[in-house]
Amino acid sequence: FEKIEWGKPLNGVNILITAGPTREKVDPVRFFTNHSTGKMGYAIADVAAKLGANVILISGPTTLVPPENVKTIQIESAQDMYERVLEHYPHTDVVIKSAAVADYRPIQSFDQKMKKQPDDLQMKMERTTDILKELGKLKKHQLLVGFAAETNNVEEYAKRKLETKNLDLIVANNVSSVGAGFGTDTNIVTIYERDLRKIELPIMSKYEVAKRLLDKVQVLLKGAE
Ligand code: CTP
Ligand code: CA
Repeated sequence: FEKIEWGKPLNGVNILITAGPTREKVDPVRFFTNHSTGKMGYAIADVAAKLGANVILISGPTTLVPPENVKTIQIESAQDMYERVLEHYPHTDVVIKSAAVADYRPIQSFDQKMKKQPDDLQMKMERTTDILKELGKLKKHQLLVGFAAETNNVEEYAKRKLETKNLDLIVANNVSSVGAGFGTDTNIVTIYERDLRKIELPIMSKYEVAKRLLDKVQVLLKGAE
């Protein structure tokens, strides 16, 4: 993959990519998070930059090295991600939301470490903002690409997200399949389009998935000219 001669078909295109998990604070030593490692989003950012795009990567905490020629912004919570995404949205052409954003955060967080008590602990959680859904409502010229990580009813849930979030593409994967989902270097995805055509890809590296997705984005951008 390293030896590929990259043309620059995405020259001048502003792409905003989100990656990784979010962290929702409980106290100075604890948080809620998920299994996302950021590999898929970092691969998309890397490939998009190699194809000539101006790339901003908004990333939750990962152990990955930021790709070359990508403006990387590190964030922690879903709310941080929402604010940074909104700031860049007006001058963005394409948004690719591969981040695994927390759906809930503790209603209350503490500045001092919580001490354990003899009894059960009940913690009340509230919904975070659905960033992608908000972007869908504010959409003008932007192309919106979502991800759907599912364990069951993949096609049904993915198509529903495509509709309700007003997306142009959704990349669905079954995170319980071997070789797909969290932490692996490969993925098995199906890309659904607005008119519900689908592209079912076999198992391939996350870099190859990124390339196939960006090829599709390029075709849609061409059509919109
Ligand atoms: N997403 C987002 N903001 C959130 C939650 C999700 O922008 N607060 C985005 C994700 O980045 C992803 C898409 O929405 O691109 C789908 O995320 P997913 O968790 O699969 O779907 P949800 O709408 O959160 O529904 P559920 O978790 O119930 O399946
Ligand atoms: Ca979710």
